[in-house]
Amino acid sequence: MSKEQDGGRQETSTRELLNKGDGDATMKTRDATIPPHLLDHVVNGNCLRLLKEIPGKSVDLVVSSPPYNVGKEYESKTTLEEYLQQQTEILTECVRTLKKTGSIFWQVGTYVDSHRHIPLDLKVFPILESMGLYLRNRIVWIRPHGLHATRKFSGRHETMLWFVKDDDYKFFLDPIRVPQKYPDKKHFKGDRHGELSCDPMGKNPGDVWAFRNVRHNHEEQTIHPAQFPEDMIERIVLSTTSSGDVVLDPYMGVGTVAVVCQRWNRHFLGAELSEAYHQVAEQRLAGTPDKNGRFPNLRTLREHAERQGIADVSAFSFTRQVGERATTRKQAKIHPEQLHLDLIIKQTEGEAANPAYRRFATGE
Ligand SMILES: C[S@@+](CC[C@H](N)C(=O)[O-])C[C@H]1O[C@@H](n2cnc3c(N)ncnc32)[C@H](O)[C@@H]1O
Repeated sequence: MSKEQDGGRQETSTRELLNKGDGDATMKTRDATIPPHLLDHVVNGNCLRLLKEIPGKSVDLVVSSPPYNVGKEYESKTTLEEYLQQQTEILTECVRTLKKTGSIFWQVGTYVDSHRHIPLDLKVFPILESMGLYLRNRIVWIRPHGLHATRKFSGRHETMLWFVKDDDYKFFLDPIRVPQKYPDKKHFKGDRHGELSCDPMGKNPGDVWAFRNVRHNHEEQTIHPAQFPEDMIERIVLSTTSSGDVVLDPYMGVGTVAVVCQRWNRHFLGAELSEAYHQVAEQRLAGTPDKNGRFPNLRTLREHAERQGIADVSAFSFTRQVGERATTRKQAKIHPEQLHLDLIIKQTEGEAANPAYRRFATGE
């Protein structure tokens, strides 16, 4: 059985993978040649400068979402050609820093100028391919909500390209399995009659992901308009790295990749240009309130309260989250990915069955 077929079980057991503080981390720190002032830090500055300081073949995973040039508050708009030229420079450095067994996950949306809409994965694919990497998955990240377009179909997905350097890349399926649809289904004939016909630990999550984007009442929402959801980054980090490995995000934003790495005993490094976002990243990593009792988001508060055994959180507040006062987790409305997937399927089925031309034709 190949490593891919068996989800990497020959290499590492789930317990080993999920086991925090297993001693592996110190060994890996010695192996890695990353300068200590960069390891487990988010630099406030330009990522190109950071990348130049990272030694070659020292990083296990690069996971990032660059600016897409769509006029968000953190972007200065350039031409597509200039943008791609800058991205090529950054990706060249990322590939240089990556170990032979490493992976790159590059999450992008659509570049927009006055009349063109260009899915950026179409442009990133040839750049990474020309550097000798090859694609493992093109992951589609679907969202049920967003702006309603009037002169085209509303955009409801973004993509993430997963590239590797070598066939010896790491991939651990067990930690990220999702529940089987029919977990109790059994073989009804043959040698395995009566045995479970599917893996009771769950199935491969597939390449269509439905993590809720971090907006509105999401408990991770900070001042940033385009944060990664932590559960999406957990899926990537736990499936492609081991405890003590090094993860790089050149565009850290408010530090989601760093927060997930800290939680799962991986080293991290990265950069963020904006001072305000950098400060939020630092606050999330520290996990404590500022001098005014404020947290960058609900999740940081909830975890602080759980750690400290604080039952009454009314003395705390947020920089931005469900109004200005601290709330309970219930109000944060975090749901598992499967729920979003089911809702999207239900919604799209309902929509497909009832288009306006049919409704008007039947007079409903
Ligand atoms: C799409 S956001 C990333 C958000 C991040 N994934 C998170 O979860 O918070 C891109 C970020 O890159 C930052 N940025 C843009 N150009 C940069 C550069 N040259 N170096 C470092 N950061 C940069 C922006 O300020 C923005 O916060």
